[in-house]
This record gives sequence, C-alpha cells and structure tokens, in this order.
Amino acid sequence: MSEKTIKILKNGPYIVSGDIPISERIITPVGKGYVLKDGQKFKAGAVYSLCRCGNSKNAPYCDGSHGDFDGEETASREKFKERVDLCEGQEIDMLDDHRCALARFCHRDTGSAWELVKKSDDPELKEEAIKAAVECPAGRLVVFDKQGNEIEPDYSPEIEVLQDPEKGVSGPLAIKGNIPVVSSDGHVYEIRNRVTLCRCGSSKNKPFCDGRHIRAKFKDGLID
Ligand code: FES
Repeated sequence: MSEKTIKILKNGPYIVSGDIPISERIITPVGKGYVLKDGQKFKAGAVYSLCRCGNSKNAPYCDGSHGDFDGEETASREKFKERVDLCEGQEIDMLDDHRCALARFCHRDTGSAWELVKKSDDPELKEEAIKAAVECPAGRLVVFDKQGNEIEPDYSPEIEVLQDPEKGVSGPLAIKGNIPVVSSDGHVYEIRNRVTLCRCGSSKNKPFCDGRHIRAKFKDGLID
C-alpha cells in the first residue's frame, strides 16, 4: 500500500494516495449545539482525486472541470504554535489560530469554547470545553492540560466531505488522523490531527478552508 498523502496539483485537484476512506458527514443542529451525522460512503481506492475548484459535476471527485481555476496556495506555512493566541483557563488552556471553517462546534448549550475554558475548574464545563475544541474539524482550537499535554481524539486517517444543510451549503473536506498534505511546490504542511481543506475554490487561505463556502453559497450537487 502506498503512503497516505494528499498532494495538491497546481490549479487542480487534491490527489489522495494510500487507500484513505472517504465519507459524507452532515453538520446537524442539536439543541443549541451541533453533531456530525453520517451521510453516504464514497468509493475510495489506492489513488483518487478530489475537486478543489468547486466546479466538478461529480463531487467530491475531480472531473477535469478546473479549467482556468486559480488555486494559488496562500496560507501561512508557519506551524500552528507560531500562529496562535492563548486562552488561559483554570484547569486547561486553549490555543486558537483563527483558521475557522464556520462549522460552529465551538458553540455549545453551556457556552462558547473560550468561555468554557475559563470556567474549566468545574469538571462538567471542562468536559464541555474539551468537546467544543476537539470537535472543531478545522483544528482551529487545541486544548492542553496544565502540564502542557495536548488533549486530542485518536483519529484514524480518513476524509470527511462536510455538508451544512442548516446554512444550505456544502462544506470543506475534513482531514483527520495526521495525513500529510503536500503543496503543489512540494512543501509538506504541518501534519495535524484535524484540518479542513477548501473544496469550493473561494478560500483566501488555500489550501485551507476559511469559511467562504457559506458566502459563496457553494453546493456540490449532493445536497439540495
Ligand atoms: S479540481 Fe478538478 S473539477 Fe474541481
């Protein structure tokens, strides 16, 4: 089996190697928070290409429609810890790189991730703060205990094609489980447990999602 990687082609798709499973996940409101519900499973395989421009008629795969797509990768190549602000709490701390995919998991019934971290001397609110951070598919928020140990779920490598019916749009690709993402010029972005990659073509922070799929009203043809 080949190494698991996502390689970006200049002004073209993501080339996914290494038999990485891929499925659809639906951002679903529950109470004042959100959960991810399962959607359809997609065909994976040793190598496949995923649309990055938003024009494919065969989403989530590339169908060659990228034509004159400008896919320039503009995201900072600094590491997460070099780009973050610190939110200090009672029992846990949180780092925030502001790389937001507008998935809204940081807002829960009990408060926002930032509010909950500050009140993390309450065990229930600490649990909520951890969920609010680790459920962020973009990896914008990462929590640490006071010894500096990262608190992260143990994800296997997989790709989730996000849909956001509440906003009436399709979302980014959620990349889980430390899959290397390689730029079109061969740079390996920092390997992380959670990142979201743009697939609408509109992000100003390519290859990462910056939430512009909502403003762009992006629909991949798989949601109404
Ligand atoms: S990147 Fe090829 S169709 Fe979108």
